[in-house]
Amino acid sequence: YDLIAAGQLAGQRVFIRADLNVPQDDAGRITEDTRIRASIPCIEMALKAGAAVMVTSHLGRPTEGEFKPEDSLAPVAARMGELMGREIPVIANWVDGVQVAPGQLVMLENCRLNKGEKKNNEALARQMAALCDVFVHDAFGTAHRAEASTYGIAQYAKVACAGPLLAAEIDAIGRALAQPKRPLVAIVAGSKVSTKLTILQALAKNVDGLIVGGGIANTFMLAAGLKIGKSLAEPDLLGEARAVIEAMKARGAEVPIPVDVVCAKRFAADAEATVKAADAVEDDDLILDIGPKTARILADQLAAAGTIVWNGPVGVFEFDAFAGGTEAIAQAIATSDAFSIAGGGDTLAAIAKYGIEKDVSYISTGGGAFLEVLEGKTLPAFEILGKRAES
Ligand code: 3PG
Repeated sequence: YDLIAAGQLAGQRVFIRADLNVPQDDAGRITEDTRIRASIPCIEMALKAGAAVMVTSHLGRPTEGEFKPEDSLAPVAARMGELMGREIPVIANWVDGVQVAPGQLVMLENCRLNKGEKKNNEALARQMAALCDVFVHDAFGTAHRAEASTYGIAQYAKVACAGPLLAAEIDAIGRALAQPKRPLVAIVAGSKVSTKLTILQALAKNVDGLIVGGGIANTFMLAAGLKIGKSLAEPDLLGEARAVIEAMKARGAEVPIPVDVVCAKRFAADAEATVKAADAVEDDDLILDIGPKTARILADQLAAAGTIVWNGPVGVFEFDAFAGGTEAIAQAIATSDAFSIAGGGDTLAAIAKYGIEKDVSYISTGGGAFLEVLEGKTLPAFEILGKRAES
């Protein structure tokens, strides 16, 4: 993105692919605008350089070729316009041509409405590429998708480069996973081992401590020979859980198993919460959080970490009685001197709930993309931009 900063863009047509896929309520109001805010620096840079700027994104998963009002980027353009202090027109049916002058900014309607977008249709990607002199990929949240407006356009545009958000994300992830200050401790939590198994397997080859939480921890407790009552778990994956524990052990690292847990007899916000030793869980118990002793042990481990990677709350933090573990982890990360990186929808909700946004070194705008990076995959965005940089 030095290209943008270098001021070589005066009079150039710049097509920015951002990820403006933000949550909305039933009335279409934007409930969380981090991705919009994070996309503005790239746009401002291009405008300041005197470019004619087009920005687009997908919003949701609309049916291609079938416009419905709720698929429109209009509310996103309105919010971005408020934040930037300018009107941002939304252009419909834009693939055949866009009128935009240097210094102007337009938003191209939801790119997933174009037929062929998802399947990275070559003709569509070439049409998009023909709209611009420079293509800027700044959509980290969509970096794991190879679609016409993310991948194909990067192949065919005269010039293709990464934007500052994409660059910042990959820098932060590199700092955490490729050249971490050790010990490197990862927290991988969530309801199912199956959805995060490849992440656990990849991290087990790299991290010094692997903290598991939520339903994932229940399966690991089972693997360690503990009873978990009627808690959520995946007994089919005990072998895989044991293999992760063994892989860590072989490297002199560990997966700490909870020593105490918070149980309830039913899954409800007003259910009675009882702290129990990990070996005292009864048949009709549901484990809904880690216990205070476990939280202290994990907080100490995090306090000693050089780098922390956080994905997933360790308990049902939406229910106050079962939020103690997640709050303790959040506070431990907030007070630690480690370089910390966090990502994923639920994780961001926990960060917001405990107000530690400023205390986490880097908060990723990626959901699925962040998870795929943790799996050790090279995302299509980096693959194609790398190829373009070489050619
Ligand atoms: C996300 O919210 O994770 C990204 O915007 C990608 O959206 P998608 O899963 O619909 O491709």
